Amino acid sequence: MRRGTGSLYRRAQSVRFLLGRDRAAVLAFPRARYPVALSLRERAALVARFVATTNHVRTYHTQAEMLAVADRILRLAGRPALTIVEAGSGKGGSTAKLSLVARIAGGKLLVFDSFRGIPENHERHRTIWGRPVHFRAGAFRGRLPAVRRTVARFGAPEVCEYRKGWFSDTMPALEGPVDVALLDVDLLSSTRTCLTHLVPQLRPGGAIFTQDGHLEAVVSLLGDARFWCDELGVEPPRIAGLGQRKLLEIPSALEPRLQGPAFVATAGA
Ligand SMILES: C[S@@+](CC[C@H](N)C(=O)[O-])C[C@H]1O[C@@H](n2cnc3c(N)ncnc32)[C@H](O)[C@@H]1O
Repeated sequence: MRRGTGSLYRRAQSVRFLLGRDRAAVLAFPRARYPVALSLRERAALVARFVATTNHVRTYHTQAEMLAVADRILRLAGRPALTIVEAGSGKGGSTAKLSLVARIAGGKLLVFDSFRGIPENHERHRTIWGRPVHFRAGAFRGRLPAVRRTVARFGAPEVCEYRKGWFSDTMPALEGPVDVALLDVDLLSSTRTCLTHLVPQLRPGGAIFTQDGHLEAVVSLLGDARFWCDELGVEPPRIAGLGQRKLLEIPSALEPRLQGPAFVATAGA
């Protein structure tokens, strides 16, 4: 049986995940309160689009993870110059989903990636579950034209701006404040570069998510007070679930009270 993108098997898997792994997040989404009108029908359509994207594009996240980030963005809907950053677009499936959410929230999405996959590196990783991992150069590559096509088909291309190149070259040119960022970059060096440039730009009430919380080295970095104090010049944030969850949320220093049910993202693929 064919199991790749667009296959029946993949659709069946999506249904299985909706009923199991992602169920809590999907059920919480209709009840969340946002500063923009978002009907039940529109919410269902958004989830359906997320699922259709996953069925047709190779992705590296769960729907629960994307809904947790979507929830954070939608809570800030209507903010002037709302800016969302994605670092690590892969084949563009996560980009398409974030672009839809950015459009609803009235924001723009800045997409940072080499569009050549993971850079050359000597990093050797272990997950918090004890599994060794190596991210070889070129892995997860999605060429920019292909990512643009994916976003045109499943997302909202009009809100996207692409920043092609290694993060160390493109991130320093990041202009203006950031409200929500999603990092899915695999390497410790990439995580460090992104945080170095994003943390000083994060607006009060915003958040930086990382989907690399399953890597021991990333957990150590995020738990290292010297990294936050000496390298970034900020107080170490309190990161819920550090060392236990794959998707982690790093809140900005000034966190306003939030309303509505909280999302719980389960460990991802
Ligand atoms: C796991 S993939 C992202 C998957 C995508 N977010 C999804 O859920 O489908 C990791 C991405 O990070 C990018 N990346 C990692 N380190 C990078 C760096 N230093 N500069 C630019 N891109 C980088 C790779 O090109 C790759 O596209």
